[in-house]
Amino acid sequence: MAVVRIAIAAQGLQISQSAADNPPARLPRTFPTPTNLNVLPKDLTGQQVHDIMEQWDADLGVQCSACHIEEPNNVISGAPPRPLFADDSKEMKEVARHMYTMTKEINSNYIAKVEGSGKRVTCGTCHRGHVGPKPFTVQPPGGPPPIQIPPN
Ligand code: HEC
Ligand code: HEC
Repeated sequence: MAVVRIAIAAQGLQISQSAADNPPARLPRTFPTPTNLNVLPKDLTGQQVHDIMEQWDADLGVQCSACHIEEPNNVISGAPPRPLFADDSKEMKEVARHMYTMTKEINSNYIAKVEGSGKRVTCGTCHRGHVGPKPFTVQPPGGPPPIQIPPN
């Protein structure tokens, strides 16, 4: 009996050691097909939406959770909370939809009419890494350097 137990214990050690040496190869990340797009083109793939979202994070200096809620009840299961990206309860998400539509209109109705312009307005053009865009103040020539506002 004792011999069997030792053998099992030894085997367990071996398994955990080889798992540490050779972690399982990471599966390529997949992004589910979006189900609740109201302003972005509906035929975007999950990967394309994800790339846009990462850009918004960077442009506004926020994380996904600024606009997306996480599933409740995760405390009981102990599993990490999962974001519910299709859910619309955060007001910021709705604001972002208006902002997206506005940005698209600026580009197609105005910027595109500037002759020879290859430029495009993005979220970052105004936001510059801040969720609430900072006001621009002109500095007098030779005046003090602009005040550095810490990122929020
Ligand atoms: C500034 C707000 C904002 C931030 C930050 C943001 N999102 Fe979104 N997200 C939205 C909006 C708005 C939509 C819906 C777009 C629409 O209606 O066409 C959306 C839609 C999505 C969808 C599609 C859900 C579905 O099934 O329709 C996914 C997935 C998603 N976001 C993931 C992310 C991830 C991942 C991050 C962080 C990297 C992120 N989002 C950051 C605003 C945001
Ligand atoms: C033309 C300039 C401009 C562009 C382009 C722009 N925004 Fe904004 N955005 C603003 C301004 C100004 C405010 C502040 C409005 C206020 O709080 O009164 C704002 C506010 C927001 C807010 C709400 C912040 C808060 O604290 O409630 C979100 C979210 C947002 N923008 C997302 C976006 C996204 C996403 C894009 C790109 C798809 C974008 N914006 C493009 C000017 C812009």
